[in-house]
Amino acid sequence: MIYLDNNATTKLAPEVLEAMLPWMVDHYGNPSAGYRFGKEARRAIDTAREQAAALINAHSPEEIIFTSGGTESNHLALASALSWLPPDSTFVSSTIEHSVIHEWLGAQAEKERLSWEQVSVNEDGQLHLDEWSEQLSRSESRFATLMWANNETGVLLDVEKAAAIAESQGAYFHSDAVQAVGKVPVDVQSHPMQSAAISGHKLHGPKGIGALWVNRHSRLHPVLLGGGQENNRRSGTENVAGIIGLGKAAELAQAHIARREEQQGLRDRFESALLGEIEGVEVNGTTEPARRLPNTSNLYFPGVDGEGLLILLDQAGICCSPGSACSTGAVTPSRVLTQMGYSRARAKSSVRFSLSHLTTEDEVTEAITLIKEAVKKLQIVLPTGSRVVGPRR
Ligand SMILES: Cc1ncc(COP(=O)(O)O)c(C=O)c1O
Repeated sequence: MIYLDNNATTKLAPEVLEAMLPWMVDHYGNPSAGYRFGKEARRAIDTAREQAAALINAHSPEEIIFTSGGTESNHLALASALSWLPPDSTFVSSTIEHSVIHEWLGAQAEKERLSWEQVSVNEDGQLHLDEWSEQLSRSESRFATLMWANNETGVLLDVEKAAAIAESQGAYFHSDAVQAVGKVPVDVQSHPMQSAAISGHKLHGPKGIGALWVNRHSRLHPVLLGGGQENNRRSGTENVAGIIGLGKAAELAQAHIARREEQQGLRDRFESALLGEIEGVEVNGTTEPARRLPNTSNLYFPGVDGEGLLILLDQAGICCSPGSACSTGAVTPSRVLTQMGYSRARAKSSVRFSLSHLTTEDEVTEAITLIKEAVKKLQIVLPTGSRVVGPRR
């Protein structure tokens, strides 16, 4: 199997499993317990908090709140702000946020708990900063959220400028950094931000664990109440093994980030081979490779049904993701791609490939051959001999 779906989830690093195992078997004490057996677990959690904080250059480990994953981390930041911001507040997001944020904001707006404004992106997948600035200049715009990197295209959003604009207007700034953390440097001190979401399983850690970084000067109102864990910010007995796993994964990620140029080199080789060898293939998102995550390639294969390509690639042993989602029998083209201005046809003919440091040169070479073969089988040939090509816009 050639696994090219690392933006969906990653393989657990063996070192992470090794670090977790004792906390699932022998050291099962409750970290809130006052005896030694519990205190050991507390100390291990503290170390993991330091490791997670170091990865994103938090001011202090206390700024890390462990959660059940990226979904909860984002929801905690949003729900907290909703509970203390004035009731007439407008929440501002981009049109390409992950469904975790998009659907939460949509649901709250529908119930009239907040106003929601979405700022569009261009064909490269970059935020229209002038629109962002104009939207945030309105006094009711008090919360701004922008993802650090897009999960489908890998495009790195201009968080630096977006956060600076939010700060200049006195708005809270949150970033869903789930896809960026562990792949590229994420330094929360370098931007004026209030919170950021992290997920363990996107960086070779376990599933079901994540963290919300909250600036020590920012307010956080808890959503889960009860035992008062995580310094009263997220109740619930800690997922000790998961937390230890996230800490270890964060420590290991530093080395992968340092070698991200190698990762990008492999991705670029994969991408340019497909662009050069299959007629009409185009990149979705910026063509400047350095402005995307070093592991992601979202490609448009003209005349090819993306779902069909996925099935053939699955049969050939390649795991990757579609540019469309199949729900209740209908194929819905990706919101992200259509919001970037691509046609529905193009979105339905697009596939995301995402590598990791575990992807080898040989796997990439084999994947290129198998993808070329599968595309050849699927390209629709019109009676005239010309291929059906989906329009760019
Ligand atoms: C950008 C982004 N945000 C949030 C999430 C949700 O994270 P989790 O699966 O840990 O809940 C994902 C997962 O796909 C993601 O890609």
